[in-house]
This record gives sequence, structure tokens and C-alpha cells, in this order.
Amino acid sequence: MKTELFLVVVALVCAAANPLSKAAQRNKLLLISFDGFRWDYDQDVDTPHLDQLLEDGVKAKYMTPPMLTMTSPSHITTVTGRWVEDHEVVHNMMFNAKTNQKVPHKQTLTRSEWWDNGVLPLWITAQNQGLKTASFYYPGGGANYSGQVVDRVIVEEPGHPDDNETEWRQNINTVMRWFSEEDFHLVTLYYGEPDNVGHAKGPDHPDRKSIIRQIDRTIGYLREAIGRHHLNNSLNVIITSDHGMTTVKKRPQVDEIILNKYLNLLKLASFEILDYGGFGILTPRPGKEQEVFNALSNAPNLTVYKKDELPESFHLARSERLPPIVVVADLGFNLNSRFIVYVNKGDHGYHSGEMDMKTIFRAFGPDFKKNFLSEPFDSVHVYPLMCKVLQIDPAPHNGSLAVTEKLLLPGGESGDATGGESGDATGGESGGVTGGESGDATGGESGDATGL
Ligand SMILES: *[C@@H]1O[C@H](CO)[C@@H](O)[C@H](O)[C@H]1NC(C)=O
Ligand SMILES: *[C@@H]1O[C@H](CO)[C@@H](O)[C@H](O)[C@H]1NC(C)=O
Ligand SMILES: *[C@@H]1O[C@H](CO)[C@@H](O)[C@H](O)[C@H]1NC(C)=O
Ligand SMILES: *[C@@H]1O[C@H](CO)[C@@H](O)[C@H](O)[C@H]1NC(C)=O
Ligand SMILES: *[C@@H]1O[C@H](CO)[C@@H](O)[C@H](O)[C@H]1NC(C)=O
Ligand SMILES: [Zn+2]
Repeated sequence: MKTELFLVVVALVCAAANPLSKAAQRNKLLLISFDGFRWDYDQDVDTPHLDQLLEDGVKAKYMTPPMLTMTSPSHITTVTGRWVEDHEVVHNMMFNAKTNQKVPHKQTLTRSEWWDNGVLPLWITAQNQGLKTASFYYPGGGANYSGQVVDRVIVEEPGHPDDNETEWRQNINTVMRWFSEEDFHLVTLYYGEPDNVGHAKGPDHPDRKSIIRQIDRTIGYLREAIGRHHLNNSLNVIITSDHGMTTVKKRPQVDEIILNKYLNLLKLASFEILDYGGFGILTPRPGKEQEVFNALSNAPNLTVYKKDELPESFHLARSERLPPIVVVADLGFNLNSRFIVYVNKGDHGYHSGEMDMKTIFRAFGPDFKKNFLSEPFDSVHVYPLMCKVLQIDPAPHNGSLAVTEKLLLPGGESGDATGGESGDATGGESGGVTGGESGDATGGESGDATGL
């Protein structure tokens, strides 16, 4: 009798603390990455669906990737909240500077030894707290971490076409079924565009604009699919990317860099990854470090660093994998080793402070504010935001929830949305929001937040 009474009391207390709704409900999260989506790619193309996203959700003016603006390093920073020196995915190519082994990006996708360096990504941390997670093509999703696999993984095969719009929609349908029929909590979904077009044609080519239109249609399709699967009130969506893109500078506009003009690579270096856009790495032969450094210091249109003298803001120096010499080209210069590689018209890998390397951040769903334009932030802060949305305890990370929490409606998991905090939502932050609407947006919505 006593026990029963106690249970009733507990039930009542819980009900009172969590008025019927929010608290009991853990909303789901879909993280979508469109590779190489520069922050301003939507500004010279008609993108009605992306525009609608701002009305219905939040947008950052831009997002800064970690230093080492490449696909694998940046994607893993997003799902770990760790700097590159910590997660150690220090290139798209898997390499071993001692054996000279190099493995191209697509072939690394199931090589755990490249990804699994002691830092647990969001999938695993979420699974360890009872959630179901999946990765559809997202870099790193196909690896094991401390012996654990992501619950469901689809890895992109090398050579698989990246731009098939029909398949893009099918992939959305698949993911929607995972959420609605199989109760997955977190899915990361990756698209290889607009990166391919940016590399092949350059960011200013008309084909880049058409792929942005295709992405925009896909976002429209996603919104529809969310409705069809009755996920409007339970699914949060983050749409982001890993880096921007810049036009590769060519003759006669500039003299391209050919590093072998400044140092005999064969004689002085035992390992190198060059000819890979704006970011190069080298291991000098024994005793040749200073000579390599001096020679590269004389080369124009680049900056050479000894690993242990890398600026702290790069968060690269503590990496064990990174070779002793790091070269960062000036924006648009390719680090050609011996001859000029005319493959790419666009590239990345440059300093993350360059505007052309900045990327996008958008989000919408039941936990996000509406019509909220955020100041820019670093991608390392997305991780704690995702943990907050999923209501899980984050693993140790380098982000700060204080930076990204303001994107969320007040209250959140505590079910307090109506409470005193809702006033805060409009506080200092909304200053940036587009003109007159900002008043409306917060007005109506903060009420809605408790609605479900
Ligand atoms: C992950 O671990 C399982 C079981 O140990 C193994 O069968 C599988 O090959 C591993 N996968 C990868 C990508 O390392
Ligand atoms: C695009 O994908 C669809 C669906 O998977 C497939 O039927 C079609 O053949 C693909 N088109 C091309 C050009 O690969
Ligand atoms: C869900 O969202 C879609 C797209 O914004 C909208 O068309 C649909 O009416 C919404 N459905 C519900 C039940 O709110
Ligand atoms: C490249 O370096 C040369 C030589 O120092 C310099 O004259 C030129 O202005 C540089 N080009 C760019 C685009 O910075
Ligand atoms: C990043 O986070 C890890 C884990 O908490 C910590 O060990 C490391 O010192 C942090 N890095 C920086 C630069 O603060
Ligand atoms: Zn990329």
C-alpha cells in the first residue's frame, strides 16, 4: 500500500515537473552535410527553399571550419567537437610517413585505423546513452571506434556518382523511414556536392549555380518528406558543410608555385603530400629539417611552418600524425610539387580565416528558433549543440554550448518554454535578424514551443 502511494506521488511529481510534453519527448536529429558548400553560394542563385529555411529556422551568417579545411578532418570535427590535433584525422588521404603508404579518401572510409584515435564521435556517445544512430555516406561513419560500430551505416563506394538527384531523394526517403518506422534518434546524411562541381568547374561556373538549385530542390523535397512521415514536430534538422571553395589561380594571372624549384624534393624529403590544393605536408630527410624550412621560406605565395611552431589557433601542433613541415598556400595557389597539375579549377585547404573557406550552417525543427540569423561561429561548437538537442551528455570536447545554445528555443528539455526564459529568446541575439520580422518571429513561436 505504502509503496503504491509512493509511486503515485512520484508519478504526480514527475507529471508536474514535465507538463505532458517536451520533457518526455526526446526529439530526433538529422545532420546533413553538403560537401564544399561555400557560405555565400546561395547569394547569386534563386533558392526559395533555403530562403524558407531562414523563416522557419536559424541561419548562421557563415560557419568557420577548423584549420585544415578538408573533407575528412572537418567532418570529424563536426561530429566530435574536437580540434584536428585531437581527433588526428589530419588529411583526406590516409598516410603513413614511415612506409610512404597513401590511401585515397574514398578508400579510407572503412579503414578504422585512420579514424579511430581515441576520440569518440557523436554516434557512439549517443549509442552508449541508449540512442539509435545511423550514418548515410557521412565520412567516418563506416569506422569502428574503440571497438564499437555505428548502428546502421551506408558507406559510399569509390566511383559512386555524387550528383544523381533521383538518388538524393531516395536517400532522404530511406532516412525518413529510419526515423519514422525504426525510431532512429540521430542520422548523419552526406552529399558529395557541390564539392565536385566546385573542384571541376570552379566556384564561379554556371554549373555550380545549377547544383545549388538542385540542392535547393532537394531541401524542398526534404521538407515535404518530413511532413509525409509526420516528423514535423519531432525532427530537428541541421544543414551544414565542411569548407568552402576558391578559384585556383593560373597563368597568366599568376606564376603557379612549383615547389621543386625551391628545394630538391627527392633529396630533401622522405615523405610528402603535395598537389592537393592549398595544404601540403612534408617529412624532411634526417638532419634536413632546417634546410627544407629555409628553402620553402623563400618560396612565394605560401607560408611554411615547422609543426612545433604552428600558430596555436590552428590547433594542429599537438597532432602526432602530422609531419614536421606544414605548408599553407596563399588563397587560390595550388602547391604543385614538380609540375603544374591542371586538374582542379577550384580548391580548398587554405586558411580557415579566408572568407572563401567559410561554409554554411542552417537548422530548423521543434527545438530551434525561427527567423533567427546568428553571428558566425566555429564548427567545433556544433557538437555540444547536437548533444543538447539529443539530450545526451557530451564526451569531452573543444566546443562551447554557450556559443550555439542561443539558436535553440528557451526551455528545451526542461519543458520550461513558457517560463520566464521565453523573453530572453528575443534578447540581444535577435539583433541580426532580418528587419521587421524578428519581432513577429519570436512573438508567435515562443508560444508554439510549448504547443507540443
Ligand atoms: C568493426 O569491428 C567488427 C567486429 O570486430 C569487424 O568485423 C569489422 O570488420 C570492423 N569494421 C571496420 C570498418 O573496422
Ligand atoms: C540515378 O539514380 C536512379 C535511382 O537510383 C537510377 O535509377 C538512375 O539510373 C541513376 N541515374 C544515373 C544517370 O546514374
Ligand atoms: C510539415 O511541414 C511541411 C513543410 O513545411 C508542411 O508543408 C506541412 O504542412 C507540415 N505538416 C504539419 C502536420 O504541420
Ligand atoms: C605571389 O608572389 C609574388 C612574389 O613575391 C608577388 O609579387 C605576388 O604579388 C604574389 N601573388 C599574389 C596573388 O599574392
Ligand atoms: C580540447 O579538448 C580536450 C578534451 O577535453 C582537451 O584535452 C584539450 O586540451 C582541448 N584543447 C584545447 C586547445 O583546449
Ligand atoms: Zn569537402
